[in-house]
Amino acid sequence: MDEHILQRALLNIPMGGLRYFEQTGSTNDAALAWAAAGAPDLALVIAGQQTAGRGRGNHSWFTAPGAALAFSLVLRPLPGEAQSIPLFSALGALAVCEVLAAQGLHPEIKWPNDVLINRKKICGVLAESVWTGEKVDSIVLGLGLNIKPEALPPPEQLTFPATCLEAEFPPPRHSIEALEQGMLLQQIIQAVRYWRAMLPTNIFLHTWERRLAFRGEQVDVWVDGQPVRKGQVDGLEPDGSLRLISPQGQVFTVQFGEVHLRPVV
Ligand code: BTN
Repeated sequence: MDEHILQRALLNIPMGGLRYFEQTGSTNDAALAWAAAGAPDLALVIAGQQTAGRGRGNHSWFTAPGAALAFSLVLRPLPGEAQSIPLFSALGALAVCEVLAAQGLHPEIKWPNDVLINRKKICGVLAESVWTGEKVDSIVLGLGLNIKPEALPPPEQLTFPATCLEAEFPPPRHSIEALEQGMLLQQIIQAVRYWRAMLPTNIFLHTWERRLAFRGEQVDVWVDGQPVRKGQVDGLEPDGSLRLISPQGQVFTVQFGEVHLRPVV
C-alpha cells in the first residue's frame, strides 16, 4: 500500500490525521501513544507490516508485508457516547461485515468481534482504551483484515481456522490491488462512522444480531478460568452480551471478557 493511494482514498472523510508506516511494531501501540499525546477523533495509524502486532488475550497478531489491512483508529467518545463504549469493538466488526457484505460475501460475527467468512476468521478487532482518571479519554480501535494468503499465520499457530479475501472472492477475481485496498479502507472507515452514530439504537444491536455466527447451533463457551459451558446461541442482550440456552433449557448470558467460542463438532 502506498501513502498517496491512502491519502486519496480518505480525501473526503474528515479524518483526524494519518500516520502511515511501511513497517511498525503495532498500529495499536502507535495509536495509543498518539492518543495519549492528544490525537484527535478519527486519527488513523496504518501499517504495511507489523512486527509486534497484538491480538486479544495477549496473543500476537501476524501481519506480513502488504498482505493485510492493519490499522488503528483513535475514537474520542463524544458527549452521549459513554454508555456505548463497551460496544466499540463490535462496531469495528460490524463495519467490516457490512463492507464485505456489500462486496457479495456472507460475513458473520463470532461473538464478540471476530469476522468470519465460511466459518473461517478473516478479520480480528482489538479495542483498547486510554483513561484519564475515571473517564475514558479515547478508544483505539485496531482492525486486522486478511487480504492475501500470506496474511495467515502458519497452520501450527492458528487457534481457529482462518481465511483471506483473495481466497473468498470467487474466480476470476484473484487478487486485490493496492487501489482496491484503499477503497476497502475508505468504506470501512465510512461504515465505522455510520454505525457509530447508530450505537445507541436497536438497529445497531439487531444488525449485529443478524450477523451473529452459530445462531441456533450448539457451542462450547468458556471464559478464562471458568469451566466450559455448552449452550445454543440464542441472540444478544441489549448491552451486547451473548445469550445462550443450556442443554437443560436455561437461559444464560456471557458478558464481555475473554471468551472462546467454538461450534460443537
Ligand atoms: C484478535 O482477533 O485477537 C484481534 C486482532 C487485532 C489485530 C489488529 S491489526 C491492527 C491493530 N494493531 C495491532 O497490534 N492489533 C490490531
